[in-house]
Amino acid sequence: MMREPWNCYCSALFLILNCHSTTAQQRTEPPFDYPSANLSTTWVNTQSFRNNISFTDGSMVRPILLRGSFGPKFACGFYCNGTCTSYLFAVFIAQTNSGGQITQPSSGFPQVVWSANRDHPVSYGAVLNLTATGELVLQDADGSIVWNTNTTRKSVAGLNLTDDGNLALFDVNSSVVWQSFDYPTDCLLPGQTLSQGQQLIPSVSTTNWTAQKGLFSLQVTDNGLYAYVGSNPPQAYFSKTVSGNDTNTGRQYVRFLNGSLSLFIFSVEPSDPDEVITVPPASSAQYMKLMPNGHLLVFEGEPPFSVVADLLNGFLGECNYPMACGRNGLCSGNQQCSCPVLSSPRIDYFRAVNDRQPELGCSEITPLTCNATQDQVFIALENVMHFNIIADMVSVDIETCKQACVNNCSCKAALFQYGSDSSSGDCYLPFELFTMMNVDPDVVHRNASAFIKVQNATSPPSTSTPQSSQSNLGVILTSTIGSVLFLLGVVGFLIYKIRKRRWDDQREEESIGEVPGMPNRFSYEELVTATENFNKKLGEGGFGAVFEGTLEDGSKIAVKCLEGLGQVNKSFLAEVQSIGSIHHVNLVTLRGFGAWKSKRFLVYEFMSNGSLDRWIYHGDREHVLEWECRKKIILDVAKGLAYLHEDCRQKIIHLDIKPQNILIDSDFNAKVSDFGLSKLIDRNQTQVMTTMRGTPGYLAPEWLSSVITEKVDVYSFGIVLLEMLCGRKKFDESQPEESWHLLDVLQNCWEQGTLQDMVDKYSEDMQTHSSEVVEMMELASWCLQGDFKKRPSMSMVVKVLEGVMKVESSLDYNFTDPRLHNTTVERDKDMTPLLASVLSGPR
Ligand SMILES: *[C@@H]1O[C@H](CO)[C@@H](O)[C@H](O)[C@H]1NC(C)=O
Ligand SMILES: *[C@@H]1O[C@H](CO)[C@@H](O)[C@H](O)[C@H]1NC(C)=O
Ligand SMILES: *[C@@H]1O[C@H](CO)[C@@H](O)[C@H](O)[C@H]1NC(C)=O
Ligand SMILES: *[C@@H]1O[C@H](CO)[C@@H](O)[C@H](O)[C@H]1NC(C)=O
Ligand SMILES: *[C@@H]1O[C@H](CO)[C@@H](O)[C@H](O)[C@H]1NC(C)=O
Ligand SMILES: *[C@@H]1O[C@H](CO)[C@@H](O)[C@H](O)[C@H]1NC(C)=O
Ligand SMILES: *[C@@H]1O[C@H](CO)[C@@H](O)[C@H](O)[C@H]1NC(C)=O
Ligand SMILES: *[C@@H]1O[C@H](CO)[C@@H](O)[C@H](O)[C@H]1NC(C)=O
Ligand SMILES: *[C@@H]1O[C@H](CO)[C@@H](O)[C@H](O)[C@H]1NC(C)=O
Ligand SMILES: *[C@@H]1O[C@H](CO)[C@@H](O)[C@H](O)[C@H]1NC(C)=O
Ligand SMILES: *[C@@H]1O[C@H](CO)[C@@H](O)[C@H](O)[C@H]1NC(C)=O
Ligand SMILES: *[C@@H]1O[C@H](CO)[C@@H](O)[C@H](O)[C@H]1NC(C)=O
Repeated sequence: MMREPWNCYCSALFLILNCHSTTAQQRTEPPFDYPSANLSTTWVNTQSFRNNISFTDGSMVRPILLRGSFGPKFACGFYCNGTCTSYLFAVFIAQTNSGGQITQPSSGFPQVVWSANRDHPVSYGAVLNLTATGELVLQDADGSIVWNTNTTRKSVAGLNLTDDGNLALFDVNSSVVWQSFDYPTDCLLPGQTLSQGQQLIPSVSTTNWTAQKGLFSLQVTDNGLYAYVGSNPPQAYFSKTVSGNDTNTGRQYVRFLNGSLSLFIFSVEPSDPDEVITVPPASSAQYMKLMPNGHLLVFEGEPPFSVVADLLNGFLGECNYPMACGRNGLCSGNQQCSCPVLSSPRIDYFRAVNDRQPELGCSEITPLTCNATQDQVFIALENVMHFNIIADMVSVDIETCKQACVNNCSCKAALFQYGSDSSSGDCYLPFELFTMMNVDPDVVHRNASAFIKVQNATSPPSTSTPQSSQSNLGVILTSTIGSVLFLLGVVGFLIYKIRKRRWDDQREEESIGEVPGMPNRFSYEELVTATENFNKKLGEGGFGAVFEGTLEDGSKIAVKCLEGLGQVNKSFLAEVQSIGSIHHVNLVTLRGFGAWKSKRFLVYEFMSNGSLDRWIYHGDREHVLEWECRKKIILDVAKGLAYLHEDCRQKIIHLDIKPQNILIDSDFNAKVSDFGLSKLIDRNQTQVMTTMRGTPGYLAPEWLSSVITEKVDVYSFGIVLLEMLCGRKKFDESQPEESWHLLDVLQNCWEQGTLQDMVDKYSEDMQTHSSEVVEMMELASWCLQGDFKKRPSMSMVVKVLEGVMKVESSLDYNFTDPRLHNTTVERDKDMTPLLASVLSGPR
């Protein structure tokens, strides 16, 4: 009671202070030199920003910090290029004059060397906030938190941009607690270190800043510095390995120094690099950048900046780069690109992705499939080498190498290299194929053969006798006849299928069309066999009973039997199909369906740990989940719902979120089940739609009045979340009477500041983590806001759970809408069974 007015006073005061400091900043002219900032400072990316500079290449900066004057200097601030619809918070090098102002040379543009948010550019109006608590937070114009240094508990005293271009948060003792040098993007600056665990990843292109994940990276490993391409597994195209002992246990790192990129071993005297890659000595500002094509370039300038070195070049030049001729391409000479072909008989298995730009690579005409390995052949190419330096097998012969590729479905090629003796060479079996190089054996002093796995198009066995390349007419004739025959076969088969289907349908007394694609249709007999005549009942849900079963392939299923749906028509099938096409790890997979007389069956994957209600209430004290496990389940459910609400082609509102509809698999992954069923039932039972549906206790207040949106699921999720945190049901008559209703308890505890008392008492582990649990109760309270507009979306819930967003601070702690409350009391007390059937129609 006392807390509320006090609270209001505090936040109002804060707001005033904040507004004041912002306007004050906007009015002041940029100072001579502004290399650091104090806490509680806010910068807003708008036109009224204190300073902005546009360049002739279309880029524009709004500098926040700038260190030094006269010459190329480091600054950080908002940066955009081109249309300026999106901005980076970036560290960049810009030309400055003796007055400490950034100047606009006609050909010297700001060079971005680091950015906080290259994967999530922000828009006009975004806010960078150096908070009073010591975090640097980037908030987009819509309020979403894009980036955060997570440094609240580190006694941060201020922000500093160093002479080296390192953006650092320092504490009261002036020691660095966070620095941009520890989070490199695609650049390294002189003085900067790349340690094990850190990597450079290039951008998608020079105009798209997004990190191009999974293609190129520059990393330090136990063995040295590596440049990799691909991810399945990564293939090295450059390496500088530590010399001497390969049993080296010291941690390695590389440092960009004036004149070198040096590889150091921690356990050895650091002043003595183990290996060195030479870089031209710096006569002006320098930086190195991993480019979208895999090159590591050194830039230098006064500005303008130009390339002064290309560091990863092997002795074979451009062809040594894995994407020089794209995927599956062959590179010869000075980057002449072509596609591999089988020479006799001449057959094309690859075509250029773009005929005019052969360097974009080649694609398979018939993709490799693992279930038709009998139709796979090798294209053998002599004097073709691969950039990767690590062999999978050494001292094997050529046949062993090829056979190993045949035996491994993922293998794309067998690449074999040997000196003089072909019975003892190096074999490499890539799972992803990039550019291969044509080499001159006299130059490389190695023999190299490549065997590229390709797939013969499957054709009817009788007509596919290959002809020699001369008898083109013969080939055409055979293949024409072949395809005519094949078409006839297909038509015949279709007619047969349609007939058979008709007949089946008549037997089922219903006319149901074929559902193209998935999910599978099961016959009634198949389901009877699978479930041993519906023998083992797993449970009885609102929609009908659920039975356990086993398919012929041994996989376990759960068969839900929906009864009394009346006429089943095309819309049922359309809905089943649309539900079946939804796939997400946190949604139970619909494997198929069936229909027999008036019964409808839905066949789901089997979840061995049953539904969540078995695990969270402590009527039975065996199943007590630990906090980590509960957190995981909560996040799983949130992700599943976020997917239904926001990522499906068609938004799906579940309408019946409750522990019984959350299933747990053997590894305690949670999946939402029964989604889309409400939709499915609606189509057939439109009258039910006009009344309430769902389960009492989990119903959002707006069911009583206004529009139904996906926020009803957020509310129900809030209830489930609270039940999991407290280890009790929402309505529990075994509690003292004033605590029957969990929401009453929640409201009281908020008022008295005693939320800890609500934490699940039967779990020691939950008690140990009670402060985290209490934090999550705030999230639950947000989800339970009476006004649905104030509830977060499920994707916001996911963000809060992942720690990248905070719970809204101005919550309404009046959880008990008197209208809903009164009615639910009635319902919960004595009307539940009746209500369930009234509300849920056929469930
Ligand atoms: C930060 O605070 C210190 C001491 O309160 C003050 O001297 C300094 O000018 C402030 N710096 C900035 C950039 O406002
Ligand atoms: C730069 O600032 C000036 C005034 O300070 C403003 O008129 C102009 O629109 C701004 N330009 C951009 C691109 O924001
Ligand atoms: C800015 O974008 C233009 C094209 O939109 C491009 O030519 C230019 O190189 C870019 N400048 C920088 C510094 O990236
Ligand atoms: C900046 O952070 C403070 C909390 O330290 C917050 O109160 C304020 O609203 C934030 N400002 C903006 C514009 O987000
Ligand atoms: C801050 O924490 C979030 C969530 O743990 C994480 O995604 C983000 O990368 C962190 N930010 C930084 C700069 O490390
Ligand atoms: C800020 O950076 C400058 C220049 O690198 C350095 O001299 C200074 O000590 C730094 N300040 C703090 C508090 O770290
Ligand atoms: C700052 O230094 C003092 C004295 O060395 C130490 O007691 C204190 O813990 C330090 N504070 C931080 C945040 O490191
Ligand atoms: C940048 O590349 C990413 C990843 O390829 C893509 O999703 C995004 O749409 C691109 N952005 C622009 C502006 O083209
Ligand atoms: C290799 O390691 C052994 C034992 O750690 C050491 O005695 C030897 O000097 C090392 N050799 C080299 C070349 O570093
Ligand atoms: C780098 O070293 C060269 C000499 O090796 C020197 O002339 C130059 O000034 C140095 N550059 C920097 C930025 O220190
Ligand atoms: C290979 O198997 C997949 C799924 O098992 C199937 O969709 C595909 O048609 C099969 N391909 C061939 C060539 O049989
Ligand atoms: C693949 O097709 C070619 C040409 O049609 C034929 O020579 C070869 O025998 C076929 N190989 C297999 C394994 O089917």
